[in-house]
Amino acid sequence: MTLPPFPPDLGAVPTVRAFGAALAQFACRTVRAHGVQVWAVVGGSLGVVGEEGRGLGLSDGTLAARSLAQGETLEEGMLACVPFGGGVLEFVGADPAGVEVMAGLTPLLTLALEGVQAREARRGQGRVAETVERLVRRLGGSLDLAEVLTATAESAALALGFGRAFVGLFSELGEDGARTGEVFTYGFDPSFTGGIGVGPVSLGRLTGRGEVILFEKARDAGTPLGAGLAELDPEVALIAPLTARGRPLGLLYVDSRSPGARVTEDDTRLVLALAEQASLAIDNARLYGIETRKREAAEALREAGAALAGSLHLSDTLERILEQATALFGTDAAGVYELQPDGRTLSIRSAVGLPSEYVLRVRAKVGAGVTGRAVERRALVTAVDLNTAHLGGGSRYTRQLLAQGRYPYRGVIGLPLGTRAGVFGALTLYWKAPLPLDADDLALTEVFAAQASLAIENARLYEEELRREREAAVLLNVGRLLGEDQSDRALSEAARLATLALNAGRGLIALTGGETGEVSRCAGFNLPPLAPADLAGLLAQVGRGPRPLTRRHALPGAGSALIVPLRGGAGGDTVLGFLYADDPGAEAPSDRVLGLARSVADQMALTLTRERLLAALAREEARYRQLAEGAHDLILSADPSGTVTYANPAATRLLAPLTGPLVGASLLGLATPATRPALQAAWEAAHTQPGGGRAEIEVAGYRLEVRLSAVRPGGVLHGVLTVARDLSELQTLADEIQRRGQALEAATSRTLELRSYLTLFTQAQEEERRRISRELHDDTAQVLVATTRRVARLARELGGEHRARADDILGDLGAAIESVRRFARNLRPSVLDDLGLLPALEWLVSQAQTDARLEISGAERRLPPALELTVFRLAQEALTNVDKHARARTAAIRVAFEEDGVRVAVSDDGQGFTPGQAQARAQEGHLGLIGLRERVTLAGGELEVDSEPGRGTTLRFRLPG
Ligand SMILES: Nc1ncnc2c1ncn2[C@@H]1O[C@H](COP(=O)(O)OP(=O)(O)OP(=O)(O)O)[C@@H](O)[C@H]1O
Ligand SMILES: [Mg+2]
Repeated sequence: MTLPPFPPDLGAVPTVRAFGAALAQFACRTVRAHGVQVWAVVGGSLGVVGEEGRGLGLSDGTLAARSLAQGETLEEGMLACVPFGGGVLEFVGADPAGVEVMAGLTPLLTLALEGVQAREARRGQGRVAETVERLVRRLGGSLDLAEVLTATAESAALALGFGRAFVGLFSELGEDGARTGEVFTYGFDPSFTGGIGVGPVSLGRLTGRGEVILFEKARDAGTPLGAGLAELDPEVALIAPLTARGRPLGLLYVDSRSPGARVTEDDTRLVLALAEQASLAIDNARLYGIETRKREAAEALREAGAALAGSLHLSDTLERILEQATALFGTDAAGVYELQPDGRTLSIRSAVGLPSEYVLRVRAKVGAGVTGRAVERRALVTAVDLNTAHLGGGSRYTRQLLAQGRYPYRGVIGLPLGTRAGVFGALTLYWKAPLPLDADDLALTEVFAAQASLAIENARLYEEELRREREAAVLLNVGRLLGEDQSDRALSEAARLATLALNAGRGLIALTGGETGEVSRCAGFNLPPLAPADLAGLLAQVGRGPRPLTRRHALPGAGSALIVPLRGGAGGDTVLGFLYADDPGAEAPSDRVLGLARSVADQMALTLTRERLLAALAREEARYRQLAEGAHDLILSADPSGTVTYANPAATRLLAPLTGPLVGASLLGLATPATRPALQAAWEAAHTQPGGGRAEIEVAGYRLEVRLSAVRPGGVLHGVLTVARDLSELQTLADEIQRRGQALEAATSRTLELRSYLTLFTQAQEEERRRISRELHDDTAQVLVATTRRVARLARELGGEHRARADDILGDLGAAIESVRRFARNLRPSVLDDLGLLPALEWLVSQAQTDARLEISGAERRLPPALELTVFRLAQEALTNVDKHARARTAAIRVAFEEDGVRVAVSDDGQGFTPGQAQARAQEGHLGLIGLRERVTLAGGELEVDSEPGRGTTLRFRLPG
């Protein structure tokens, strides 16, 4: 099966829906399924984001949901589902082998979908950031709580396209729920004075877990929440919590009363962001209200928040946070700590004012020191003066400094950085003097840290997406490079791309081959040419998946290294080669790098396997084509959708004049409507039965016997091969054979009839001859003899002249008697009847004009009368011919008696003849030789004529008896 290159634009489409549409189209075309649906998780539920082809009504989404939940390919009836990342590819009526091929692409699909989702999310976040920023700009530093909260409600309603919103502050708050008192509204009737109740469950979700509550009338009308909102009667409503430093303040409510209103995940995020903004505003305003001397600080804080929301680059964002913190709180140094993947240590990601040695060497433990404690407790931790407060250091380095009295700072505070999802680091502020902040200042630092967390999270999301996009680009490029050609140049370029993507300094791709499985090709990046021993050493390190190599097993000069097998082949477990990358740095490759290495290797292996399969396929195809071109049978091949892709000359000759071009036509459409179901059944059997399918169909007036079989080179469905035989042609042949048989039979029976007629005729002739002979002998001859006697008596009585005339008459009568007797003898020599064959032949020889002799061999005996007669007649005709035509000096009759028959030869030394001469005579009505041949045949023998002009003639035959 020809797998088209993975569409490069799949990772670059702007939305999940565009991705779904492109993927469905690609998958449907590739696997040649009836239909394909792409499912993806959007807004928390699995929905169709793209579809292509037919038969999609068969799916109700349950198989897709199960497949996604179990993370494995599932099949059920006509449906097959392949899960990838947050999505599922669902096929209707696809070939299992094709589905398997698509399953091999899942790492790539996962990455591509994640990239698109991240991009969509970023646009969503962009909308959030934009809305918040617009709001902040509009308020222009106002600390008037009513103005700020009304504007917040308005922003929320407008951004969502909803009709109404309000910010409500809790007036009553207890174990069993809360009620809003003061409200700041947008879009409500002026008579609405607020006051909605929040039950304990909803309150727990809002303030305890920081969630947004979504109300949908159709779904939630009967719930306690629905009862609480009955007065407002919304179709859809979103409720987000307002909290400040862990204290519930109130809520932001947005609703729509239009029946078509929908809420996306994005909308939820936006409402939450506005709620946080409102919380900040309330906090700021309260702080402002409590202590006007904090006014500048509060304003600066607000400005800082606005500035932080503006950047999406992590390094910029961190720099701004540190700048703002130093300016706001008058610190001597500040650092942003990052929680390491192990979850137990923190290192400094970015710092201002801290000595570089400090930045490099500090590895703070979660739970120890100011920073570690802040992260563990997820709360502000302060050290007013480290000289007196014995909090200890967070890392061995700081403990050493503290113990030696060389620690440069006295006042330190740690602020956890994190989102609702968890803590990801800390912001730590340092003063050389004891801590100069009072309780209100500390509250301000907490608000600042919350703002910083939001900004960092936003930037991290963005960076993560960029990274994924870069990785997806590497994968696509590697696939494309090796898919186009596998030249040394392409291999080197792939090695370069892979090495850079893995953040390594040097790298190589090695391909194994041959029977030994040794490295047969190798392309490196930044590496000198390698000795076979080095490559063999690396090959020995190849394991099941990607893994780091110890320095001893890596190439000389490497500080850290990794190796990944390229696994492919039919079952995916043949080692096709490996990918190696190393770096002078000693830091072991992270899980992320190993994961990426696996994806890159999978992609390479997939491409290599595919190319190998395609090459093998092309060779096979050429071979089969040659066979098919010369075949007498009709051969058609069709792709999995049933379109004819090839027709051999025999098929084209027979069918194309009547059906039109075969290639491009639908195979099933070729059969007449009456025989199409039979062809359809054979088509299905070809896919399911090992022996394929058979049918008798009619195409353009021809009756064809067809055999269909699925072609699966390397287990991948390539199409269906149809071999057909023209039954009409067979029928015509059979008819012809029968006709000829009948003709032959008729001819044979005519011959037999003729033979028996000839036999009878000959017998009758012989009988007639005998009768005439006897008549002549016994009657005519006797009358003549009696007449002779009477004439003789008369002559004796006459005298003179009369006597002489009578004597004349007597002479004539004597001659007549002699002639009649000879004629009678010739007709039927009585000697044959009385004495047998040999005396009759002797008589014949004695009568011949040519000097003839009779030679006898073998045991003499009498033969059946009919046989003796036949031999006699044959010899008679032969000798007559000698006399008439041969001009021979001598002739001979040879008779050899054998146990079960007699052999006769009549030869002369005369002038001989050619077959042409004999034929010409026959046409003139001289049938002597033909009659001879016929009589011999009738008697069960065969006449052999041996004659040549100037060489005499011999006739031979043998008769049984
Ligand atoms: N022994 C022979 N030597 C030379 N020519 C012969 C001999 N036998 C037959 N032929 C040639 O073959 C011809 C055919 O012989 P065939 O016996 O069939 O016919 P025919 O003898 O001419 O006439 P018919 O036998 O009917 O009286 C003869 O005319 C003669 O030319
Ligand atoms: Mg003759």
